Amino acid sequence: MAGRVDVLLGAQWGDEGKGKVVDVIAPGYQAIARFQGGPNAGHTLIFDGIKHVLHTIPSGVFRKDVWNLVGNCVVIDPVVFLKEVKSLADAGVDVRPRLLISRRAHLILPTHRALDAASEADKGQSKIGSTLKGIGPTYMDKTGRNGLRVGDIERPDFMDRYHTLVAKHERLFGIYDHKVDWKPMEAEWLQAIAALREFTLVDSEHWMDQQLRAGKNILAEGAQGTLLDIEFGTYPFVTSSNTITAGACTGLGIAPSRIGKAIGIFKAYCTRVGSGPFPTELHDADGEHIRTAGNEFGSTTGRPRRCGWLDLPALRYAVMVNGLTELAMMKADVLSGMPTVRVCTSYRINGKETDRLPFDITTGVAPVYTDMPGWGALDPKLALPKEIEDYIRFIEEAVEVPIRLVSTGPDRTATLLREAQALVR
Ligand code: IMP
Repeated sequence: MAGRVDVLLGAQWGDEGKGKVVDVIAPGYQAIARFQGGPNAGHTLIFDGIKHVLHTIPSGVFRKDVWNLVGNCVVIDPVVFLKEVKSLADAGVDVRPRLLISRRAHLILPTHRALDAASEADKGQSKIGSTLKGIGPTYMDKTGRNGLRVGDIERPDFMDRYHTLVAKHERLFGIYDHKVDWKPMEAEWLQAIAALREFTLVDSEHWMDQQLRAGKNILAEGAQGTLLDIEFGTYPFVTSSNTITAGACTGLGIAPSRIGKAIGIFKAYCTRVGSGPFPTELHDADGEHIRTAGNEFGSTTGRPRRCGWLDLPALRYAVMVNGLTELAMMKADVLSGMPTVRVCTSYRINGKETDRLPFDITTGVAPVYTDMPGWGALDPKLALPKEIEDYIRFIEEAVEVPIRLVSTGPDRTATLLREAQALVR
C-alpha cells in the first residue's frame, strides 16, 4: 500500500509549538519534511533538560531512523544552516547521514538580508516586523525568476550567477534611503556555500514519490502559521510563503490525493510577534502574566510576543483553509492558576456580530467573549481537571475538530494524548 503524507502546521500566527509536536510524533513516521519558510522560524524542542532551537532543519533530527528533508519551498541561508548543524553536532547529533536538501530550495544571499533591513527601515511605522532574515526578498527573487537555488551550487557557473544577482540587488539598494553594508557578510556566506556542497542534495519530488510508493509515511512540517500565510493571512502583515496545507503540496511536490491527516497546532491562547492586527490582544496584567508565564519571547529574534485570548473565529478559519482533521492544544499550563479564562467566540464589526474572519481585521473589530472558569496545575500523568476538559470541549464544539493532544509543559514528556472525541459532525 502506498504511504501518505500527514501535514502538521500552525493554526495561529506561528510559535504554536510545532517543533515539540513533530518531535513527539516523529517516531510514527519514516521521514519529516519541512515544506516552507526558512530561518525566520524557530522550532524549540526540550528534552533531557536541554533546549534545542531549529531554524531550517526539520524537527525529526533527534529521532533515530527518521529521515529529514528540507523541501523545495524552504529558503536556506547557508550560514544559519551550518551554525545549526554545528550546534546539533555539539549536542551529539550528527545530522548529515539522515538529512537531505532539495536542489530546488532557494538560497538567501547576504544582499537579501540587507534588502530586508533596508525595506523595513524605509517603511517606518508601517513596517511588517520582519525577522530580517532575508525571507521576503528571497521569495521575491523566486517569483521574479531571478533566484539562486541550492542545485545551482553544483553548476560550474555558480559564481557568475551569484554576481549577476548581487549586481541586480546593488541597483535595488538605490531605491532605499536606508543603507545596509552587506559586504562583511559575504566571505562567511561563500565559505558556507562550499560547505553546503558536502551535504546530500536531492531531487526531492522524486525522493518523496519513491518513499510513498514504498509505503513510507511522511510528516510534512510547516513553519510560521495560517494567519501568516501569504494568501490567507492578515496581509500585508504576513510572511512570504504558503503556510497552509496546500503549501505542503507545492513545497514538496506531492499531489493533494497523497495527504492524509492535517494536524493543526494552536496555543490555549494567542500570540503574535511583529506588526499587524490581533483582535484579542491584551494590553493589561493578564497579557503580561501570559507573556511571563509562557516565556513568550521570540526564539529567533528574542522580541517580546504580543499575547491575547484564544480567538475561535480565527481558529475556525484555520480549520477551514487547511482542512484540519485534528488539533493539538499547546501551553495549557500557562493559563493554570488564572481564575477566569476568556475565549473569543465572534467579532462585532460595525454593530453586527459575525463568527467569520473577514477580509480586513485591521480596525473596528471588537471581540465577543465567553468567560470560563480557569484550572489549576496540570500533570500529564493524571487526568485533566474538569475545567480544562470543559474548555477543550467548548473549542471542539466550536471548530468541529477533535483535540487529540494537550501539551502541559515545554518538555517532550509533558504531553497528554487524548482519545478521539465523538464531536466531529
Ligand atoms: P518574515 O517572514 O521574516 O518576513 O516576517 C514576516 C512576519 O511574520 C513578521 O510579523 C514576523 O514576526 C512573522 N514571522 C515570521 N516567521 C515567524 C515565526 O516563525 N513565528 C512567528 N512569527 C513569524
